[in-house]
Amino acid sequence: MDYEQIVIVGASGHGKVVTDICHCAGLVVAGFVDDDPTKVGRRVCGLPILGDDSWLAEAATRLPLAVALGIGDNAIRQRVAERCERYGTKLLTAIHPSATISRSARLGKGTVVMAGAAINPDSEIGEGAIINTGVVVEHDNYIGDYAHLSANSATGGNVTIGSRSHLGLCSCVLPNLRVGDDCTIGAGAVVIRNVLDGRTMVGVPARRVS
Ligand SMILES: CC(C)(COP(=O)(O)OP(=O)(O)OC[C@H]1O[C@@H](n2cnc3c(N)ncnc32)[C@H](O)[C@@H]1OP(=O)(O)O)[C@@H](O)C(=O)NCCC(=O)NCCS
Repeated sequence: MDYEQIVIVGASGHGKVVTDICHCAGLVVAGFVDDDPTKVGRRVCGLPILGDDSWLAEAATRLPLAVALGIGDNAIRQRVAERCERYGTKLLTAIHPSATISRSARLGKGTVVMAGAAINPDSEIGEGAIINTGVVVEHDNYIGDYAHLSANSATGGNVTIGSRSHLGLCSCVLPNLRVGDDCTIGAGAVVIRNVLDGRTMVGVPARRVS
């Protein structure tokens, strides 16, 4: 590695899981950065909250830093990632050692793959995505930037998930379908048709929530 320090941006529950992935992958984490100044000085997972965004901006001028994105909200995660890159930090791609990733799959920078997830051949995951615990991404998928596939969700072969879209817990998308950008698929939903940008879908089969 050509960087010296890894910091987790976001000291919430999601940040804890990302920290755990780094530890399981044998990476040394220096601590957290969080926008909430009242958290600074506290400890999470035994690690210090080093500072807020201004700390990161300043630290990046004197240290080679890599940040792992510990923020669950897709739009916020994108904004923070873009800001971190402007500061000159690298975005770490963190993969839990128990994840199974095809040799022909591609992962964008800043993406996090959690325990037990499987990403099958010729699938591409964009930047800053979350592939959560136990997710199955079948073959030939395209998962957009800053999308979040929640725990135990699954996509069939040849599925596209748009940027910043969120698949809820245990939801699934049938093969050959496209879910647009900025969509929300409710927990447990089964998507059987293409979904237009910005829509929220729930149920089995999934129907639009207005
Ligand atoms: C889909 C979701 C975003 C809707 O949230 P919301 O906008 O606050 O909507 P509401 O709770 O007001 O529900 C709107 C309607 O959809 C229904 N609904 C909500 N979630 C549903 C779900 N998962 N499955 C079936 N119906 C659902 C509600 O019963 C309600 O129906 P009604 O209008 O007939 O009463 C949310 O319920 C959900 O499933 N989120 C996913 C959470 C998740 O998996 N998080 C992962 C964390 S890692």
